[in-house]
Amino acid sequence: MPMTSADPIAGLPESPARDPWTLRGARVLSAETVPAVVDVVIVDGRIAAMGAAGTLDAGRIVEVPGLDLLPGAIDLHVHLRDPGQTHKETVETGTAAAAAGGTTLVCDMPSTAPQVTTAARFAHKLAGWQGRAFVDHALWAGGRDPMELRGMAALGAVGVKIYMATSPGFDELFSPDVDAVAGVLEVSAEIGWATVIHVGDQAASDAHREQLIGAGRRDPRAVLEVGRGPGNLGALDRVLDIAVATGTPLHLAHLSAYGDRALDLFAAAKPSAPFLTAESCVPALDEGADLDRLGMMVMPTVFTGDSRDRWFAALQDGTVDAIATDHAPHTRVEKAAGIEDAWAVPGGYPALETSLPLAYDAHLTGRLSAQRLVALTATTPARILGLHHKGRITVGADADLVLADPSASWTVDESRLHSLVGWSPFHGRTLRGRLLATLLGGTVVARCGDIIGPARGRFVRGRNGEGSA
Ligand code: DOR
Ligand code: ZN
Repeated sequence: MPMTSADPIAGLPESPARDPWTLRGARVLSAETVPAVVDVVIVDGRIAAMGAAGTLDAGRIVEVPGLDLLPGAIDLHVHLRDPGQTHKETVETGTAAAAAGGTTLVCDMPSTAPQVTTAARFAHKLAGWQGRAFVDHALWAGGRDPMELRGMAALGAVGVKIYMATSPGFDELFSPDVDAVAGVLEVSAEIGWATVIHVGDQAASDAHREQLIGAGRRDPRAVLEVGRGPGNLGALDRVLDIAVATGTPLHLAHLSAYGDRALDLFAAAKPSAPFLTAESCVPALDEGADLDRLGMMVMPTVFTGDSRDRWFAALQDGTVDAIATDHAPHTRVEKAAGIEDAWAVPGGYPALETSLPLAYDAHLTGRLSAQRLVALTATTPARILGLHHKGRITVGADADLVLADPSASWTVDESRLHSLVGWSPFHGRTLRGRLLATLLGGTVVARCGDIIGPARGRFVRGRNGEGSA
Protein backbone atom coordinates (compact mmCIF):
# COMPACT_ATOMS: atom_id res chain seq x y z
CA MET A 1 0.00 0.00 0.00
CA PRO A 2 1.80 3.23 -1.08
CA MET A 3 2.19 5.85 1.65
CA THR A 4 0.82 9.13 0.36
CA SER A 5 1.67 12.08 2.49
CA ALA A 6 2.42 15.75 2.06
CA ASP A 7 5.67 15.01 3.87
CA PRO A 8 7.48 12.47 1.69
CA ILE A 9 9.73 11.30 4.52
CA ALA A 10 6.98 10.82 7.09
CA GLY A 11 6.73 7.12 6.29
CA LEU A 12 10.38 6.25 6.88
CA PRO A 13 10.94 3.82 9.75
CA GLU A 14 12.18 5.33 13.00
CA SER A 15 12.73 1.97 14.62
CA PRO A 16 14.25 -1.12 13.01
CA ALA A 17 11.77 -2.63 10.55
CA ARG A 18 11.57 -6.42 10.65
CA ASP A 19 9.50 -6.65 7.50
CA PRO A 20 10.70 -5.64 4.06
CA TRP A 21 9.85 -2.11 2.90
CA THR A 22 10.36 -0.26 -0.34
CA LEU A 23 11.73 3.19 -1.00
CA ARG A 24 10.16 4.11 -4.30
CA GLY A 25 11.22 6.56 -6.95
CA ALA A 26 14.32 8.28 -5.59
CA ARG A 27 17.14 9.32 -7.91
CA VAL A 28 19.98 7.06 -6.77
CA LEU A 29 23.45 8.58 -6.95
CA SER A 30 26.33 6.21 -7.53
CA ALA A 31 30.09 6.41 -8.01
CA GLU A 32 29.93 4.00 -10.94
CA THR A 33 26.88 4.94 -12.98
CA VAL A 34 24.81 7.95 -13.93
CA PRO A 35 21.97 8.70 -11.53
CA ALA A 36 18.86 6.57 -12.07
CA VAL A 37 15.36 6.69 -10.62
CA VAL A 38 14.84 3.32 -8.94
CA ASP A 39 13.04 1.40 -6.21
CA VAL A 40 15.07 0.08 -3.30
CA VAL A 41 13.86 -2.75 -1.07
CA ILE A 42 15.28 -2.84 2.45
CA VAL A 43 15.20 -5.94 4.62
CA ASP A 44 16.74 -6.19 8.03
CA GLY A 45 18.96 -3.15 7.60
CA ARG A 46 20.38 -4.13 4.23
CA ILE A 47 19.51 -3.42 0.63
CA ALA A 48 17.74 -6.56 -0.57
CA ALA A 49 16.68 -5.59 -4.09
CA MET A 50 16.81 -2.73 -6.57
CA GLY A 51 14.79 -2.26 -9.73
CA ALA A 52 13.36 0.25 -12.16
CA ALA A 53 11.03 2.82 -10.61
CA GLY A 54 7.57 1.44 -9.96
CA THR A 55 8.53 -2.21 -10.37
CA LEU A 56 9.22 -3.27 -6.76
CA ASP A 57 6.62 -3.34 -4.05
CA ALA A 58 7.84 -5.43 -1.15
CA GLY A 59 6.01 -4.55 2.07
CA ARG A 60 5.26 -0.97 2.91
CA ILE A 61 6.04 1.50 0.12
CA VAL A 62 7.43 4.95 0.85
CA GLU A 63 7.19 7.14 -2.22
CA VAL A 64 9.97 9.71 -2.51
CA PRO A 65 9.73 11.12 -6.05
CA GLY A 66 12.00 14.06 -6.74
CA LEU A 67 14.42 13.20 -3.95
CA ASP A 68 18.04 12.13 -4.26
CA LEU A 69 19.29 9.02 -2.48
CA LEU A 70 22.99 8.90 -1.59
CA PRO A 71 25.05 6.44 0.40
CA GLY A 72 25.71 7.88 3.86
CA ALA A 73 29.06 9.62 3.94
CA ILE A 74 32.09 7.87 5.44
CA ASP A 75 34.47 10.25 7.15
CA LEU A 76 37.95 8.79 7.36
CA HIS A 77 39.27 11.46 9.69
CA VAL A 78 37.54 12.90 12.75
CA HIS A 79 38.62 13.93 16.25
CA LEU A 80 35.69 13.47 18.59
CA ARG A 81 37.78 14.18 21.74
CA ASP A 82 36.29 11.33 23.74
CA PRO A 83 37.85 10.36 26.08
CA GLY A 84 39.96 13.24 27.28
CA GLN A 85 38.54 16.53 26.03
CA THR A 86 34.85 16.06 26.45
CA HIS A 87 34.35 19.79 26.99
CA LYS A 88 34.98 20.06 23.21
CA GLU A 89 33.14 17.03 21.84
CA THR A 90 31.73 13.75 23.06
CA VAL A 91 30.72 10.56 21.33
CA GLU A 92 27.11 11.75 21.60
CA THR A 93 27.58 15.28 20.26
CA GLY A 94 30.08 14.35 17.54
CA THR A 95 28.04 11.46 16.19
CA ALA A 96 24.86 13.56 16.40
CA ALA A 97 26.61 16.13 14.19
CA ALA A 98 27.53 13.31 11.83
CA ALA A 99 23.99 11.91 11.69
CA ALA A 100 22.42 15.31 11.09
CA GLY A 101 24.99 15.99 8.36
CA GLY A 102 24.47 12.69 6.51
CA THR A 103 27.64 10.94 7.67
CA THR A 104 26.86 7.40 8.76
CA LEU A 105 30.37 6.16 9.59
CA VAL A 106 33.01 8.18 11.42
CA CYS A 107 36.59 6.99 11.83
CA ASP A 108 38.06 8.48 14.98
CA MET A 109 41.73 9.32 15.27
CA PRO A 110 43.90 7.97 18.11
CA SER A 111 44.79 11.44 19.48
CA THR A 112 42.25 11.14 22.28
CA ALA A 113 43.52 11.12 25.87
CA PRO A 114 45.09 8.79 26.75
CA GLN A 115 46.58 8.59 23.27
CA VAL A 116 45.80 5.24 21.66
CA THR A 117 49.28 3.77 21.42
CA THR A 118 48.61 0.35 22.93
CA ALA A 119 46.06 -2.44 22.69
CA ALA A 120 45.04 -1.80 26.31
CA ARG A 121 44.29 1.85 25.55
CA PHE A 122 42.44 0.86 22.40
CA ALA A 123 40.24 -1.51 24.40
CA HIS A 124 39.58 1.22 26.97
CA LYS A 125 38.52 3.72 24.30
CA LEU A 126 36.34 1.20 22.50
CA ALA A 127 34.56 0.22 25.72
CA GLY A 128 33.87 3.87 26.46
CA TRP A 129 32.15 4.40 23.10
CA GLN A 130 29.69 1.55 23.37
CA GLY A 131 26.01 2.38 23.22
CA ARG A 132 26.56 6.13 22.84
CA ALA A 133 27.01 6.75 19.11
CA PHE A 134 24.24 7.87 16.76
CA VAL A 135 26.16 6.59 13.72
CA ASP A 136 28.49 3.70 13.01
CA HIS A 137 32.05 4.24 14.10
CA ALA A 138 35.49 2.84 13.51
CA LEU A 139 38.65 3.62 15.47
CA TRP A 140 42.20 4.11 14.22
CA ALA A 141 45.12 2.58 16.08
CA GLY A 142 48.05 4.86 16.93
CA GLY A 143 51.10 3.89 14.90
CA ARG A 144 54.01 4.32 17.27
CA ASP A 145 55.03 0.92 18.58
CA PRO A 146 55.08 -1.84 15.94
CA MET A 147 54.68 -4.41 18.73
CA GLU A 148 51.24 -3.06 19.65
CA LEU A 149 49.71 -3.08 16.19
CA ARG A 150 48.57 -6.69 15.98
CA GLY A 151 46.80 -6.41 19.32
CA MET A 152 44.88 -3.37 18.14
CA ALA A 153 44.07 -5.08 14.83
CA ALA A 154 42.67 -8.05 16.74
CA LEU A 155 40.46 -5.68 18.75
CA GLY A 156 39.01 -4.37 15.50
CA ALA A 157 40.99 -1.20 14.73
CA VAL A 158 40.17 -0.06 11.22
CA GLY A 159 43.79 0.71 10.43
CA VAL A 160 46.74 2.66 11.73
CA LYS A 161 47.50 6.38 11.88
CA ILE A 162 51.11 7.53 11.81
CA TYR A 163 52.05 11.02 12.98
CA MET A 164 55.23 12.60 11.60
CA ALA A 165 54.35 15.84 13.34
CA THR A 166 53.51 16.51 16.93
CA SER A 167 51.76 18.97 19.19
CA PRO A 168 50.11 18.74 22.59
CA GLY A 169 47.63 15.89 22.35
CA PHE A 170 49.60 13.65 20.08
CA ASP A 171 53.15 13.79 21.42
CA GLU A 172 53.16 10.08 22.32
CA LEU A 173 52.10 9.19 18.79
CA PHE A 174 55.01 11.06 17.25
CA SER A 175 57.34 9.36 14.76
CA PRO A 176 60.13 11.89 14.22
CA ASP A 177 61.48 10.60 10.92
CA VAL A 178 61.05 8.04 8.15
CA ASP A 179 63.14 5.51 10.06
CA ALA A 180 60.65 5.55 12.94
CA VAL A 181 57.86 5.19 10.42
CA ALA A 182 59.51 2.25 8.64
CA GLY A 183 58.90 -0.28 11.44
CA VAL A 184 55.23 0.60 11.64
CA LEU A 185 54.84 0.42 7.87
CA GLU A 186 56.40 -3.01 7.77
CA VAL A 187 54.05 -4.55 10.33
CA SER A 188 51.15 -2.62 8.88
CA ALA A 189 51.77 -4.10 5.43
CA GLU A 190 51.78 -7.58 6.97
CA ILE A 191 48.49 -6.93 8.72
CA GLY A 192 47.09 -5.55 5.48
CA TRP A 193 44.89 -2.87 6.99
CA ALA A 194 44.51 0.75 5.99
CA THR A 195 47.47 3.00 6.82
CA VAL A 196 47.07 6.75 7.19
CA ILE A 197 49.96 9.12 7.53
CA HIS A 198 50.09 12.70 8.77
CA VAL A 199 53.24 13.84 6.99
CA GLY A 200 55.53 16.44 8.51
CA ASP A 201 59.06 17.34 9.52
CA GLN A 202 58.77 18.68 13.03
CA ALA A 203 62.34 19.96 13.36
CA ALA A 204 62.25 21.83 10.05
CA SER A 205 58.81 23.30 10.74
CA ASP A 206 59.85 24.38 14.25
CA ALA A 207 62.92 26.16 12.84
CA HIS A 208 60.80 27.86 10.19
CA ARG A 209 58.33 29.02 12.83
CA GLU A 210 61.11 30.42 15.08
CA GLN A 211 62.51 32.31 12.15
CA LEU A 212 59.13 33.92 11.41
CA ILE A 213 58.54 34.73 15.08
CA GLY A 214 61.99 36.33 15.15
CA ALA A 215 60.90 38.49 12.25
CA GLY A 216 57.91 39.67 14.30
CA ARG A 217 55.30 37.62 12.48
CA ARG A 218 52.17 36.62 14.41
CA ASP A 219 49.57 36.72 11.66
CA PRO A 220 47.59 33.80 10.18
CA ARG A 221 49.50 33.98 6.92
CA ALA A 222 52.71 33.19 8.79
CA VAL A 223 51.15 30.03 10.24
CA LEU A 224 50.06 29.05 6.74
CA GLU A 225 53.59 29.65 5.42
CA VAL A 226 54.90 27.02 7.83
CA GLY A 227 52.09 24.58 7.06
CA ARG A 228 52.80 24.91 3.35
CA GLY A 229 56.53 25.31 3.87
CA PRO A 230 59.62 23.27 3.07
CA GLY A 231 59.36 21.13 6.21
CA ASN A 232 56.02 19.59 5.33
CA LEU A 233 56.65 19.52 1.58
CA GLY A 234 60.04 17.84 2.07
CA ALA A 235 58.43 15.22 4.30
CA LEU A 236 55.69 14.72 1.73
CA ASP A 237 58.33 14.14 -0.92
CA ARG A 238 60.01 11.46 1.21
CA VAL A 239 56.73 9.71 1.97
CA LEU A 240 55.74 9.76 -1.70
CA ASP A 241 59.10 8.19 -2.54
CA ILE A 242 58.37 5.38 -0.05
CA ALA A 243 54.92 4.82 -1.54
CA VAL A 244 56.35 4.64 -5.06
CA ALA A 245 59.34 2.48 -4.10
CA THR A 246 57.47 -0.03 -1.93
CA GLY A 247 53.96 -0.04 -3.38
CA THR A 248 52.67 -0.03 0.21
CA PRO A 249 49.07 1.14 0.47
CA LEU A 250 49.23 4.58 2.08
CA HIS A 251 46.56 7.19 2.62
CA LEU A 252 47.65 10.80 3.14
CA ALA A 253 45.74 12.71 5.80
CA HIS A 254 44.57 16.26 5.03
CA LEU A 255 46.65 16.79 1.90
CA SER A 256 44.75 20.04 1.48
CA ALA A 257 46.41 21.45 4.61
CA TYR A 258 49.74 21.56 2.81
CA GLY A 259 48.64 23.86 -0.01
CA ASP A 260 48.69 23.75 -3.77
CA ARG A 261 52.30 22.62 -4.14
CA ALA A 262 51.42 19.46 -2.21
CA LEU A 263 48.74 18.73 -4.77
CA ASP A 264 51.34 18.97 -7.55
CA LEU A 265 53.71 16.60 -5.75
CA PHE A 266 50.95 14.12 -5.02
CA ALA A 267 49.59 14.23 -8.58
CA ALA A 268 53.07 13.59 -9.96
CA ALA A 269 53.66 10.54 -7.72
CA LYS A 270 50.22 8.98 -7.95
CA PRO A 271 50.52 7.26 -11.36
CA SER A 272 53.51 5.30 -10.04
CA ALA A 273 51.88 4.26 -6.76
CA PRO A 274 48.62 2.42 -7.36
CA PHE A 275 47.72 2.16 -3.66
CA LEU A 276 48.44 5.76 -2.78
CA THR A 277 45.41 7.86 -1.84
CA ALA A 278 44.79 11.26 -0.31
CA GLU A 279 41.98 13.16 1.31
CA SER A 280 41.00 16.80 1.13
CA CYS A 281 38.57 18.79 3.18
CA VAL A 282 35.74 20.38 1.19
CA PRO A 283 37.20 23.56 -0.33
CA ALA A 284 34.19 25.49 0.77
CA LEU A 285 35.02 29.04 1.74
CA ASP A 286 33.28 31.72 -0.24
CA GLU A 287 35.05 33.31 -3.16
CA GLY A 288 37.24 36.07 -1.84
CA ALA A 289 37.02 34.88 1.79
CA ASP A 290 39.09 37.21 3.91
CA LEU A 291 42.01 35.28 5.30
CA ASP A 292 42.58 37.76 8.11
CA ARG A 293 38.96 37.42 9.24
CA LEU A 294 38.41 33.70 8.69
CA GLY A 295 41.95 32.37 8.52
CA MET A 296 42.34 31.41 12.14
CA MET A 297 38.96 29.76 12.27
CA VAL A 298 39.76 27.36 9.46
CA MET A 299 43.51 26.94 9.82
CA PRO A 300 45.31 24.90 8.59
CA THR A 301 43.04 24.16 5.62
CA VAL A 302 42.27 27.42 3.88
CA PHE A 303 40.99 27.66 0.34
CA THR A 304 40.38 30.93 -1.40
CA GLY A 305 40.17 32.09 -5.00
CA ASP A 306 42.26 30.16 -7.53
CA SER A 307 43.37 27.63 -4.95
CA ARG A 308 39.78 26.75 -4.18
CA ASP A 309 39.14 26.15 -7.88
CA ARG A 310 42.25 23.98 -8.19
CA TRP A 311 41.18 21.71 -5.33
CA PHE A 312 37.68 21.37 -6.73
CA ALA A 313 39.23 20.40 -10.07
CA ALA A 314 41.38 17.78 -8.32
CA LEU A 315 38.35 16.38 -6.52
CA GLN A 316 36.42 16.21 -9.77
CA ASP A 317 39.18 14.71 -11.95
CA GLY A 318 40.02 11.98 -9.41
CA THR A 319 43.44 13.23 -8.37
CA VAL A 320 42.14 13.52 -4.80
CA ASP A 321 40.41 10.36 -3.60
CA ALA A 322 38.32 11.25 -0.60
CA ILE A 323 36.68 14.08 1.29
CA ALA A 324 37.39 13.91 5.02
CA THR A 325 36.64 16.62 7.53
CA ASP A 326 39.54 16.34 10.00
CA HIS A 327 36.69 17.46 12.29
CA ALA A 328 38.71 19.11 15.06
CA PRO A 329 36.47 21.00 17.44
CA HIS A 330 38.20 23.75 19.39
CA THR A 331 36.39 26.32 21.47
CA ARG A 332 35.54 29.74 20.15
CA VAL A 333 37.69 31.26 22.90
CA GLU A 334 40.74 29.22 21.85
CA LYS A 335 40.25 30.30 18.26
CA ALA A 336 39.73 33.94 19.17
CA ALA A 337 43.22 34.03 20.68
CA GLY A 338 44.47 34.11 17.10
CA ILE A 339 43.52 37.74 16.69
CA GLU A 340 46.45 38.62 18.98
CA ASP A 341 48.80 35.79 18.19
CA ALA A 342 48.15 33.30 15.42
CA TRP A 343 50.76 30.88 16.79
CA ALA A 344 48.68 30.41 19.95
CA VAL A 345 45.76 28.87 18.13
CA PRO A 346 45.19 25.13 17.77
CA GLY A 347 44.56 23.96 14.20
CA GLY A 348 41.28 22.58 12.98
CA TYR A 349 37.58 23.34 13.08
CA PRO A 350 34.24 21.57 13.41
CA ALA A 351 33.01 20.34 10.02
CA LEU A 352 31.21 17.02 10.40
CA GLU A 353 27.69 18.40 10.09
CA THR A 354 28.49 20.60 7.09
CA SER A 355 30.79 18.35 5.06
CA LEU A 356 28.29 16.35 3.00
CA PRO A 357 25.95 19.37 2.68
CA LEU A 358 28.83 21.44 1.25
CA ALA A 359 29.81 18.65 -1.13
CA TYR A 360 26.17 18.18 -2.20
CA ASP A 361 25.93 21.92 -2.83
CA ALA A 362 29.08 21.63 -4.97
CA HIS A 363 27.33 18.90 -6.96
CA LEU A 364 24.13 20.89 -7.41
CA THR A 365 26.07 23.97 -8.48
CA GLY A 366 27.97 21.96 -11.08
CA ARG A 367 31.42 21.68 -9.49
CA LEU A 368 31.22 17.95 -8.67
CA SER A 369 29.49 15.30 -10.75
CA ALA A 370 27.12 12.91 -9.00
CA GLN A 371 29.64 10.12 -9.51
CA ARG A 372 32.49 12.05 -7.94
CA LEU A 373 30.32 13.29 -5.07
CA VAL A 374 29.53 9.71 -4.09
CA ALA A 375 33.03 8.39 -4.78
CA LEU A 376 34.66 11.07 -2.63
CA THR A 377 32.27 10.93 0.29
CA ALA A 378 31.42 7.24 0.51
CA THR A 379 32.57 4.67 -2.03
CA THR A 380 36.30 5.37 -2.06
CA PRO A 381 36.57 5.80 1.72
CA ALA A 382 34.87 2.39 2.08
CA ARG A 383 37.34 0.90 -0.40
CA ILE A 384 40.32 2.40 1.44
CA LEU A 385 39.05 0.79 4.63
CA GLY A 386 38.20 -2.50 2.92
CA LEU A 387 34.56 -2.24 4.04
CA HIS A 388 32.79 -3.68 1.04
CA HIS A 389 29.35 -3.66 2.63
CA LYS A 390 29.46 0.12 3.07
CA GLY A 391 29.60 3.22 0.89
CA ARG A 392 27.43 2.02 -2.02
CA ILE A 393 23.78 1.64 -2.80
CA THR A 394 23.80 -1.89 -4.08
CA VAL A 395 22.15 -5.20 -3.24
CA GLY A 396 23.72 -6.64 -0.09
CA ALA A 397 25.08 -3.35 1.23
CA ASP A 398 24.10 -1.83 4.57
CA ALA A 399 21.16 0.53 4.11
CA ASP A 400 23.13 3.57 5.31
CA LEU A 401 21.39 6.21 3.24
CA VAL A 402 20.74 9.91 2.88
CA LEU A 403 17.56 11.28 1.32
CA ALA A 404 17.98 14.81 0.06
CA ASP A 405 15.87 17.40 -1.74
CA PRO A 406 17.89 18.91 -4.59
CA SER A 407 15.38 21.69 -5.11
CA ALA A 408 15.50 23.07 -1.56
CA SER A 409 18.13 25.27 0.01
CA TRP A 410 19.01 26.18 3.59
CA THR A 411 21.31 28.45 5.52
CA VAL A 412 23.89 27.08 7.97
CA ASP A 413 22.99 28.26 11.46
CA GLU A 414 25.66 27.35 13.98
CA SER A 415 23.19 27.56 16.87
CA ARG A 416 21.34 24.56 15.37
CA LEU A 417 24.40 22.36 14.81
CA HIS A 418 25.21 19.53 17.19
CA SER A 419 28.94 19.84 17.79
CA LEU A 420 29.54 20.77 21.41
CA VAL A 421 31.71 23.77 20.53
CA GLY A 422 28.71 25.54 19.04
CA TRP A 423 30.27 27.35 16.12
CA SER A 424 30.96 26.75 12.45
CA PRO A 425 33.21 28.53 9.98
CA PHE A 426 30.37 28.09 7.49
CA HIS A 427 27.77 29.91 9.60
CA GLY A 428 25.56 31.98 7.35
CA ARG A 429 26.36 30.14 4.12
CA THR A 430 23.29 29.34 2.05
CA LEU A 431 23.59 25.91 0.46
CA ARG A 432 21.64 24.29 -2.33
CA GLY A 433 20.10 20.92 -1.53
CA ARG A 434 18.67 19.96 1.82
CA LEU A 435 19.31 16.68 3.63
CA LEU A 436 15.91 15.43 4.75
CA ALA A 437 16.76 12.14 6.40
CA THR A 438 19.73 9.99 7.36
CA LEU A 439 19.14 6.25 7.67
CA LEU A 440 21.49 3.91 9.45
CA GLY A 441 20.90 0.26 8.70
CA GLY A 442 17.52 1.19 7.24
CA THR A 443 16.36 3.17 10.30
CA VAL A 444 16.05 6.96 10.47
CA VAL A 445 18.66 8.49 12.77
CA ALA A 446 18.21 12.13 11.72
CA ARG A 447 15.38 14.05 10.12
CA CYS A 448 15.84 17.61 8.83
CA GLY A 449 18.74 18.19 11.21
CA ASP A 450 17.04 16.69 14.27
CA ILE A 451 18.36 13.52 15.87
CA ILE A 452 16.07 10.52 16.17
CA GLY A 453 17.36 8.34 19.01
CA PRO A 454 18.21 6.05 20.62
CA ALA A 455 21.91 5.78 19.78
CA ARG A 456 21.96 2.99 17.19
CA GLY A 457 25.55 3.30 15.94
CA ARG A 458 27.60 0.11 15.84
CA PHE A 459 31.32 -0.43 16.08
CA VAL A 460 32.68 -1.33 12.66
CA ARG A 461 35.69 -3.60 12.79
CA GLY A 462 38.54 -3.22 10.35
CA ARG A 463 39.08 -5.83 7.66
CA ASN A 464 41.71 -7.44 9.85
CA GLY A 465 39.77 -7.81 13.02
CA GLU A 466 37.69 -10.95 13.22
CA GLY A 467 35.54 -10.00 10.22
CA SER A 468 33.50 -6.83 10.02
CA ALA A 469 30.29 -6.01 11.80
O1 DOR B 1 44.41 20.84 12.54
C1 DOR B 1 44.41 19.76 13.11
N1 DOR B 1 43.85 19.61 14.31
N2 DOR B 1 44.99 18.68 12.51
C2 DOR B 1 45.12 17.51 13.13
O2 DOR B 1 45.54 16.55 12.53
C3 DOR B 1 44.72 17.39 14.54
C4 DOR B 1 43.64 18.33 14.85
C5 DOR B 1 43.23 18.40 16.28
O3 DOR B 1 43.11 17.36 16.89
O4 DOR B 1 42.98 19.48 16.79
ZN1 ZN C 1 43.48 15.25 12.22
